[in-house]
Amino acid sequence: MKWNCIASKGLIPLRIHVEKDYESLSELAASVVAYDIVQNPNIVLGMATGGTPIGMYKVWVNQVREGNLSFREATTFNLDEYLGLDATHPKSFRFFMQENLFKHIDININRTFFPIDDMNQPFFEYDSLIQQESGIDVQILGIGRNGHIGFNEPGEDFNRLTHVVELTESTRQANARFFSNSEEVPTHAITMGLASIMNAKKVVLLASGVDKSLAIYNSISGEVSPKYPASILQQHPNCTVILDEDAASLLPK
Ligand code: PGA
Repeated sequence: MKWNCIASKGLIPLRIHVEKDYESLSELAASVVAYDIVQNPNIVLGMATGGTPIGMYKVWVNQVREGNLSFREATTFNLDEYLGLDATHPKSFRFFMQENLFKHIDININRTFFPIDDMNQPFFEYDSLIQQESGIDVQILGIGRNGHIGFNEPGEDFNRLTHVVELTESTRQANARFFSNSEEVPTHAITMGLASIMNAKKVVLLASGVDKSLAIYNSISGEVSPKYPASILQQHPNCTVILDEDAASLLPK
């Protein structure tokens, strides 16, 4: 395994690893986080939805089935949730996590949290709850084509905690693939803020595919700027970036 460290403009080296393809990216991401789970079974994980982490979740499901990994003592906090969909809605992120991970592993479902309350209303005390659980040990992230992380779109203030956002048209279009049509995509969501994400002790950012290459280039090699929300990760003391060759294609060799 070859780690490339680059000194980003944020002055803290990000650990960047480039894998050949999505499958090997998923394998590597799964083992990087599984290592932490094995070291600390009471781990608090920050979870992400979207297409990118699905491969990593599949690897974990197999590892749990084979008896090599357990989430029995783990706690999870998802990054974000749509507003206006209840938890049983097949397009809610709660449902996504249930289908892609939770129902296949040995996690205690009462220890899996989302930033909405029992009435599906925004849960603004999310960051306090995370701190009560002694903070997120490992936050998993995907990245949007415009450099967003969670639902923190370009221009977002780096200092915000969990908050409600109106989704941009580009994000609604990108997420329309999970719905029958773009009209069905909710207009609002609640997301951990960039400060919530930066409070995690460790961050693992995943990106696959050429359509993420510009976002990765701008976020990793450019200035730290609200224009590219993920660029704040250059200032995180423990951030690992796992890419496939396509997503890394614009980075300097
Ligand atoms: P994706 O989404 O994993 O489906 O590409 C990532 C994101 O928009 O944050």
